[in-house]
Amino acid sequence: MPRVTDPLKIRNMEIKNRLGFPPMMSGSISNGIPGEKFYNVYEPIAKGGVGLITVEASSTDPMNNPIQPCLGLDKNIPAFKEFTDRIHTYGTKIGIQFAHGGILTLMMVAIMRMNMPVWAPSSVDPVVASDAYDLINPNWRKDLEKTGFKEIHAMTVEEMDGVGNRFAAAAKRAIDAGFDYVEIHSAHGTLYHDFLSPYYNQRTDEYGGSWENKTRFLRETVAKMREKIGDKPIVTRISAEELLDDGLKVEDQQKVAVLYEKAGVDCIDVSQGIQVRTPMGINIPTYIPHGGFIHYPEAIKKVVNIPVIGVGSIIDVKMADEFIQQGKADIIYMGRQLITDPETPNKYFNGQTDDIKYCIGCQIGCGSVCVLNPFERHNYQELVPTEKSKKIIIIGAGIAGMEAARVAKIRGHDVELFEKSDKVGGLMHVVAAEYKKEQFMNIVNYQKTQLKKLNVPIHLNRELTNQEIMDLDCDVLVFAVGTEATIPVKFKDNPSVLTQDEAIMKTKSIGKNVVIWGLDTYWKGGAETTITLREQGYNIKAIAGSEKLLAGIITQARLTGRVTWIHRYFKENKIPMFTNAKLIDFSDNKVIIHDSDDKEHIIEADTLVHCGARTTPKKTLEKEFENVRFKINFIGDCKRPRDIQAAIRDAQTLARSL
Ligand SMILES: Cc1cc2nc3c(=O)[nH]c(=O)nc-3n(C[C@H](O)[C@H](O)[C@H](O)COP(=O)(O)OP(=O)(O)OC[C@H]3O[C@@H](n4cnc5c(N)ncnc54)[C@H](O)[C@@H]3O)c2cc1C
Ligand SMILES: Cc1cc2nc3c(=O)[nH]c(=O)nc-3n(C[C@H](O)[C@H](O)[C@H](O)COP(=O)(O)O)c2cc1C
Repeated sequence: MPRVTDPLKIRNMEIKNRLGFPPMMSGSISNGIPGEKFYNVYEPIAKGGVGLITVEASSTDPMNNPIQPCLGLDKNIPAFKEFTDRIHTYGTKIGIQFAHGGILTLMMVAIMRMNMPVWAPSSVDPVVASDAYDLINPNWRKDLEKTGFKEIHAMTVEEMDGVGNRFAAAAKRAIDAGFDYVEIHSAHGTLYHDFLSPYYNQRTDEYGGSWENKTRFLRETVAKMREKIGDKPIVTRISAEELLDDGLKVEDQQKVAVLYEKAGVDCIDVSQGIQVRTPMGINIPTYIPHGGFIHYPEAIKKVVNIPVIGVGSIIDVKMADEFIQQGKADIIYMGRQLITDPETPNKYFNGQTDDIKYCIGCQIGCGSVCVLNPFERHNYQELVPTEKSKKIIIIGAGIAGMEAARVAKIRGHDVELFEKSDKVGGLMHVVAAEYKKEQFMNIVNYQKTQLKKLNVPIHLNRELTNQEIMDLDCDVLVFAVGTEATIPVKFKDNPSVLTQDEAIMKTKSIGKNVVIWGLDTYWKGGAETTITLREQGYNIKAIAGSEKLLAGIITQARLTGRVTWIHRYFKENKIPMFTNAKLIDFSDNKVIIHDSDDKEHIIEADTLVHCGARTTPKKTLEKEFENVRFKINFIGDCKRPRDIQAAIRDAQTLARSL
């Protein structure tokens, strides 16, 4: 039985082990070619011990663009050669993914407001074609029209021929630049995928209808590439399923995989989903279990004789090893995990599993800078020892306090932590008690282990008095005391109005029929709290808030699997929602809400869960301790109620500056 540590051959290329880093857009390229940021993204991953790395979706067009590596130009070859030489010093094989956006170009039009043509097999309805946007923002069709967008362009055979030629020419440049293999993106809704898709491909010519026809475009491209790159491996990424009732199924892709193998593809990389319809297969939220898509590569492996790659929320090398031993995949890609901790393979192989920092699955940083490592990748700054060790006291052992303690101690400071409760982690215990968010405890567990190893004293159940604080013998005092959940004054004496924390942790009793207030306030308001309570059997009568979108914080940043999953849950379970609403009253088991048209709704409920603003004691503390002789700092939520990203960033920024 093969193990994850065993070498493997793809065509004639030998990889040293069976762990890989998948193509992941990082926004780190400098005008089409590798610069310092690009090295800071890829080099740590190579150094960390993976067998192979596939560079993110790259362009084959003869012009540099700001967001993609470009091998459409001969003049870019030397810069990429320097890059591949550097990666090869770690014994890692390096490939590059070539992608044509196809239907995904709609993302550029919709989010970046770029007036670009969208090429696809057929001119389908753009709103259906990217219905994840429509799900989240009902005004999306109007927004799209405002950009000047008219229609999806059905490609001509000449245009397809041109794309294939450019892919082949770029593959040749990649091999000349020292890449070991090339990958054609035929997944996630990119152009080659669109030709396989029942919705996107409605052609009646020799590129539509049968599987022979639908795969023709990619097979022709493989032939053109083969002519240019000889014996070098060609990998193809597919979406085993589109994750839609009427979408591509794995049984279809089994037929496709057989045809691809016959056409000369050397390895199939099996992903799932469409970025603009079902991104939960690509940016996989914590609601889907680790390795939850591994049955797809397993099914593809049954019909082909070439290596098959499996991917999808696999963060543990032990799990990867088990999948390989069970014959479910030949190679396992770890994406976000290697962004969180590029050293994961080496740490695992060397038995240092305690030191692995595991991904929490939050989907906030990912491609650019992981929320848990604010000074890595694009923002890389070396962590240097301090020249003068200081005595640092930190009050509050939530993630902000612990992170500051960890980094300050590594730098050589003398650090001590005081925590008023009986455990470390603060609000993260509430976060992790929400529906399928246990993974968020990964950061707490990591910090706790590291602080123990670093011998940082943590005094639990210890709330210092004001006098004790004033008498402290230290150089720096850090407040990381977090926030308090609040409810509006008018509901203060109403025992049926609960804060978000009370509802999640069940520290107060909740009735069966619940109204949730808050769509997008602190963090994401009540979106995940609603799901949590509903999954626990409570009857959610409605969710309402004064905001215009549910969970807008993550909606506007990027179309992630997490936000799409949330919105789909609300739609499928028909949870009544009031946006732009006013909360008028709650008494006698009646919640009174005015909707966006000022129409009154009286909702029978026995509990109102208020997912509202939180207060920080910062101002009070500043006043109380204005005359102390040491420097006072505030980090994390107590500085301003925000999120995990801000808590860790504040903590590291401070600890690196001391
Ligand atoms: C329901 C919910 C879901 C969330 N989901 C997400 C999410 O998915 N993603 C995300 O990015 N963010 C999320 N957040 C926000 C995130 O949890 C916080 O931003 C983060 O945990 C703040 O960390 P912190 O260390 O600054 O504060 P806290 O976690 O509040 O820690 C403060 C610590 O200080 C201690 N303390 C307080 N006073 C004293 C004192 N006087 N002496 C000693 N110790 C004291 C407390 O006991 C606590 O341990 C969520 C928040 C909630 C409420
Ligand atoms: C920020 C981000 C960027 C991505 N970019 C690409 C890409 O360029 N090409 C691609 O095929 N997949 C891309 N993906 C999908 C990843 O390759 C991978 O399949 C996904 O992250 C699931 O693996 P993981 O759970 O191990 O991270 C991207 C995913 C994320 C989160």
